Amino acid sequence: MLNGKRVLLIVTGGIAAYKTPELVRQLIKAGAHVRCVLTKAGEQFVTPLTLSSLSGDKVYTDLFSLTDEHDMGHINLSREADIVLVAPATANALAKMAHGIADDLATTLLLATDKPVLTAPAMNVRMWEHAATRDNVKLLQARGVTMIGPDEGDMACGEWGEGRMSEPEDIVLALNAFFDGEAPLKGFSAVVTSGPTHEAIDPVRYIANRSSGKQGHAIAEALNELGAHVTLVSGPVDLADPQGITVKRVESARDMKAAVDRALPADIAVCAAAVADWRVAGEAEQKMKKDGSATPSFETIENPDILAGLSAPGPNRPRLVVGFAAETESVIEHARAKLAKKGCDWICANDVSPATGTFGGDANTVHLVTRTGVEDWPTQSKRAVARKLAARIAAHLNAEGTATKPGGAG
Ligand code: C5P
Repeated sequence: MLNGKRVLLIVTGGIAAYKTPELVRQLIKAGAHVRCVLTKAGEQFVTPLTLSSLSGDKVYTDLFSLTDEHDMGHINLSREADIVLVAPATANALAKMAHGIADDLATTLLLATDKPVLTAPAMNVRMWEHAATRDNVKLLQARGVTMIGPDEGDMACGEWGEGRMSEPEDIVLALNAFFDGEAPLKGFSAVVTSGPTHEAIDPVRYIANRSSGKQGHAIAEALNELGAHVTLVSGPVDLADPQGITVKRVESARDMKAAVDRALPADIAVCAAAVADWRVAGEAEQKMKKDGSATPSFETIENPDILAGLSAPGPNRPRLVVGFAAETESVIEHARAKLAKKGCDWICANDVSPATGTFGGDANTVHLVTRTGVEDWPTQSKRAVARKLAARIAAHLNAEGTATKPGGAG
């Protein structure tokens, strides 16, 4: 728990520093005592006054200021904390840390501290991918420095990729996990649906859709990374089964529903599968033949709605049920209607019109629609969407309290 912990927050000079006032606010809300140190470049993006107003403490900037040394020597400053957090950590800050350069207050503290150091890197994707940064990160990790993120997505410079600083709530979650020494979803169980379903017409033909399963599989992996016991119920996809996860491969919507029911009870359900709404009534037992007469016409019947079934009140209802709404227009409006109709708790609404390339692609633009509002997430990789969703789920369930935390589903 962060509650009562002393966090020394070092803010270095990247554009992501604009998120640090919100980070300080959230750390304080979580019960931490926050003391801030700003580098010269950091001061260009956020003022000492803003950070001291939010932290309720003096903000330290100058290594040679007599007042600072009188108040609190730099050695004390680095030791009188339970943890040191560098957010944002620029490529330059990581390089100085890796090579022991101490040319200002922030880097001197980082060299002097005997406390655990966590960093939230933030930089342009090319800088993050540069061999120099890769080597520095490896060096720091080998010395026990923890990296939080970075996330993928749109960057201030207009490029897209990995290098965005993690969101304040994700950093708070990482700090909480660090102090708890355990994954935030440990002891929780989850069932995730993914991929399309195939609805047979005859033994060789079927009705399908373009879902790749990338988003659902990434969610199963992200929940697992946070410690949940995950059952992934997957329709036919070209993806390998993720490690450490119970995978049930199914074909049709009815198979998928049966496999989901067998995975209950579960604390969390995420329905990311593109389940076929209809199946063909009276599937032919033998391959249908062209016999020169009329072309076949099919009668269809509705498939069971797995998400609505999971959301219905009852002893097996998961504590949190999350659905997806793949829409091609009026995305939020339709998602809100779906939330009410299906009875689930959250809907991840995404635009799947062909121009977005969401189906089968690696990126996704999600709007998280809950009963209390809508969060617009930036366009980011499906992996980053999954990590963000898993972090949100963990924060939500942990905020509900651990007292009622049930055991896993086996
Ligand atoms: O009704 P629609 O297909 O638009 O709803 C999408 C959401 O419902 C997704 O979360 C999907 O996984 C789920 N769903 C389901 N069973 C169905 C149809 C959709 O679980 N038969």
